[in-house]
Amino acid sequence: MQFFLDTANVDEIRTMVSTGLVDGVTTNPSLIAQSGRDLVQTIKEICALTNGPVSAEVTATDVKGMVAEGEYLRDIADNVCVKVPLTWEGLEATHRLSEQGHPVNVTLCFSANQALLAAKAGAVYISPFIGRLDDTGANGMELIGEIRTIYDNYPELDTQILAASIRHVLHVKESAMMGADVATIPAKVLKALAQHPLTDKGLAAFMADWKSTGQSILS
Ligand code: E4P
Repeated sequence: MQFFLDTANVDEIRTMVSTGLVDGVTTNPSLIAQSGRDLVQTIKEICALTNGPVSAEVTATDVKGMVAEGEYLRDIADNVCVKVPLTWEGLEATHRLSEQGHPVNVTLCFSANQALLAAKAGAVYISPFIGRLDDTGANGMELIGEIRTIYDNYPELDTQILAASIRHVLHVKESAMMGADVATIPAKVLKALAQHPLTDKGLAAFMADWKSTGQSILS
């Protein structure tokens, strides 16, 4: 399973990329707004920090505008992946961009039928929003399972499932169990994956016992 970082914070990305655990980055207009920085400059800097795909989202809503913006974003760096919303117009824009060889991440997916359409349109990634579905009382993880089943039924659909809107560690574990290809994760949640109180307790005991020996490995 690949891990993408779900942020437009360049400093955060730099720190997390150095762990070797980050395979790519996803941004969206809200994350760019949160960063308070220029979109193009930010995407350029992020693309220089990772060789993995960096999703940059179009903001036009008509087909022509989305395609034009997608082409513009792709000129920023080779590893830009154009993010397109799952609207009727977005599906056509996905088709057109994909035909030109541009990788597309179709975002704002909330149903299995939407995911089926995105795959047929040629998306490299489909982004089901787990957390936002959970917020409505639906079960986001069920959607991941449905999409997995549908895509596996039709091997000619090679779109990858990118679990998005991940809010906590359980979302990551369950996405992996459901067979999502990628999870895009906020840095805080990614770090939390490593945490366990028994690890902390065990390490404290090892350190105390080691100190009592008076030894040092490197001297
Ligand atoms: C990533 O591609 C999505 O834009 C992001 O995961 C949405 O997350 P949110 O629902 O927490 O805003």
